[in-house]
Amino acid sequence: MKEFNIAVIPGDGIGMEVIPEGIKVLDTVAEMQGIRLNYTHFDWSCETYHRTGRMMPEGGLEQLQAFDAIFLGAVGFPGVPDHISLWGLLLPIRRAFDQYVNLRPVRLFEGLQSPLAGKKEGDIDFYVVRENVEGEYSNIGGIQYEGTDDEIVSQQSIFTRKGTDRILRYAFELAQSRDKKHLSSATKSNGLFHSMPYWDSRVEAMAQQYPEVKVDQYHIDIFTANLVRMPEHYDVIVGSNLFGDILSDLGPACTGTIAIAPSANINPDHRFPSMFEPVHGSAPDIAGQNIANPIGTVWAAAMMMQHLGCDDMHDTIMQGIEDVIRNGDSLTRDMGGTASTQALGDALVKAIAAAH
Ligand code: NAI
Ligand code: MG
Repeated sequence: MKEFNIAVIPGDGIGMEVIPEGIKVLDTVAEMQGIRLNYTHFDWSCETYHRTGRMMPEGGLEQLQAFDAIFLGAVGFPGVPDHISLWGLLLPIRRAFDQYVNLRPVRLFEGLQSPLAGKKEGDIDFYVVRENVEGEYSNIGGIQYEGTDDEIVSQQSIFTRKGTDRILRYAFELAQSRDKKHLSSATKSNGLFHSMPYWDSRVEAMAQQYPEVKVDQYHIDIFTANLVRMPEHYDVIVGSNLFGDILSDLGPACTGTIAIAPSANINPDHRFPSMFEPVHGSAPDIAGQNIANPIGTVWAAAMMMQHLGCDDMHDTIMQGIEDVIRNGDSLTRDMGGTASTQALGDALVKAIAAAH
């Protein structure tokens, strides 16, 4: 029997509401397919921070390292500044475990209304491949003459040859494996004088090794406009940490709701555990109301099982998501329905059981 040890960090806000639904679906499918999943829960969160002054305890990363994967809800809540909560938990995990790929699939499902006029199932179907450990998200920089009129703030972006090439290689490989074989790179080489011309030059160099892949590039400003105007143009999008972050909220928003979108923080060589989470955050505005959409979390759980080599589990979960959205009876408010978080989770379990 296949067996996996999963570290579960529900985190803050709706993270605590959607993670149980993810586990419910995982358990249903694991049992059907004879796979054993052992969960260990960690209560690391902004609440922990209030109590202990730390988002995760000392030695937290060492504790996580032993697991096969990490399943995370959301991190951040009013009362703790976002840069403290993110740099205290999420970002150290991504970096310590070299999860340099952030993979975010974007799909318009049958049964969901895109806010873009005239789009139907299949019109939106792409991946955002986001660089996940360097780029614009760095803590290098500082403040000088703080609190005076002469205040100076500098924030440094970091682009390494190794870091740039490996994310591009991952994206080219993904594009190569898809029917359209089309890769679009997000740049801003007209404004960022050093980093983005460098990024573009590495894209060009990598493209030489993938002659079958059609490559184009757009400055991030027109990229966002194009994603709304012609989402069907895109197949695999690759972007730096910041650009990938922006495009991977915009993409799912074009499919009706950001709440169905998953995010896989992948260490491709499996040296460290990878981490799976929904794209969305802790949604303080709806936390505690039992109306959060759990589909982003459930899809993230499917990606986790795929990463662990259980493709059947992934496919079964995805089939369940497709069925429930198409059926439309048990959708949460963000998808135009009235179902609670748990009712949608239950509907997923039922649909999966019915199909098998
Ligand atoms: P958010 O994603 O939490 O919420 C944005 C909007 O989408 C809100 O109106 C919210 O109600 C709605 N929404 C989000 N998830 C939903 C779901 N599952 N079902 C229904 N509606 C949903 O982003 P926001 O408000 O910018 O951030 C809130 C907190 O979350 C902040 O502390 C932020 O730093 C943190 N955050 C954490 C992330 C992570 O853990 N990876 C990612 C994004 C934000
Ligand atoms: Mg984001």
